Amino acid sequence: MQTVDVKDREFRNALGCFATGVTVITALGPSGELLGNTVNSFSSVSLDPPLILWCMGRHAMSLKNYLSTESFAVNILSSSQRSLSNQFAKAGADKWTGVAYETWNSGCPILKSAMAVFECQTRHTYMGGDHVIFVGEVMTAAFDATLEPLVFLQGKYRTVQPLPKP
Ligand SMILES: Cc1cc2nc3c(=O)[nH]c(=O)nc-3n(C[C@H](O)[C@H](O)[C@H](O)COP(=O)(O)O)c2cc1C
Repeated sequence: MQTVDVKDREFRNALGCFATGVTVITALGPSGELLGNTVNSFSSVSLDPPLILWCMGRHAMSLKNYLSTESFAVNILSSSQRSLSNQFAKAGADKWTGVAYETWNSGCPILKSAMAVFECQTRHTYMGGDHVIFVGEVMTAAFDATLEPLVFLQGKYRTVQPLPKP
């Protein structure tokens, strides 16, 4: 194991050893525009009340729109949605061309074929260094256990493989 300088690129590489799923955070912006950003800084926080969090870089163009809305949706991507992850990671681009979605209770766009969805109301926002931490209360949750998740590890997309029995 090598020690790294946390001011260096290697810090990101060390963080990248934590395998995550991939989400697209979606919302309806203040002028009715569709927001969508690929995010892997998602985490569960609390069961009662049901809280989750995600973090957005303070330089993201969409940040002020998320700060102006009262709700957002977390779309947990399935393994077939790698191209959507790339599409929603493009800074400033029109990310919604050709994207199939529907709306539920909050009006946030919900991606079709997501593995799980959490519709949330924003409860707290905290400054966290160069990111803003959004804490949402989950109002609607849904999942499809027949799908496989898209996984992100060390800068690469992956799928999960169960370990053989010991
Ligand atoms: C797999 C993956 C995970 C990402 N996770 C985050 C994240 O947790 N927070 C974040 O701010 N940006 C994250 N990004 C980058 C954003 O998707 C990208 O900077 C953002 O969508 C640009 O949005 P903008 O048009 O609002 O600037 C991630 C990108 C990828 C490919």
